Amino acid sequence: MEAVILCGLQASGKTTLYRERFLETHVRISMDLLRTRAREAAFLRVCLETKMPFVVDNTNPTVAERARYVAPAREAGFTVVGYFVDVDFATARARNATRERVVPMAGLGDVAKRLVTPTPQEGFDALWHATAGSDGWRIEPLLTTPPLF
Ligand SMILES: Nc1ncnc2c1ncn2[C@@H]1O[C@H](COP(=O)(O)OP(=O)(O)OP(=O)(O)O)[C@@H](O)[C@H]1O
Ligand SMILES: [Mg+2]
Repeated sequence: MEAVILCGLQASGKTTLYRERFLETHVRISMDLLRTRAREAAFLRVCLETKMPFVVDNTNPTVAERARYVAPAREAGFTVVGYFVDVDFATARARNATRERVVPMAGLGDVAKRLVTPTPQEGFDALWHATAGSDGWRIEPLLTTPPLF
């Protein structure tokens, strides 16, 4: 069973990716939907106890925020996969401005400032780099080593 942890700016396309790739197979755990950490933890617990594949659809910008899911999922025997949904700030801002649920700009700026690219050392079994191409998603292995030159 698989635990998928999405991370990326508001309006980067995380929920769109969930809808397009995981809707039929994974439960969606999202603070937008669940609202409180207590409720989120309860849903996470049920997924882990019942071996239900799930996607965490939050911005998850930091190691600490991702650890909330990575550590217990590993302990429960899940394969933990991360997707860095990566768009530049200007694209996220433009998408945010035109969608139904507009996030305040301060929130976007705050996540952009705190965003740390995920690494295998955090406990991920696989890491993917999701960018939006002109004809759908472009999903490639996430490079986590420094450039050679
Ligand atoms: N590849 C794409 N090309 C153009 N627009 C896109 C693309 N992916 C998503 N969008 C649009 O961008 C907006 C934000 O997408 P989405 O809701 O998936 O972002 P999100 O990362 O889940 O944001 P949040 O963190 O605020 O929940 C939506 O209006 C969506 O239709
Ligand atoms: Mg979303």
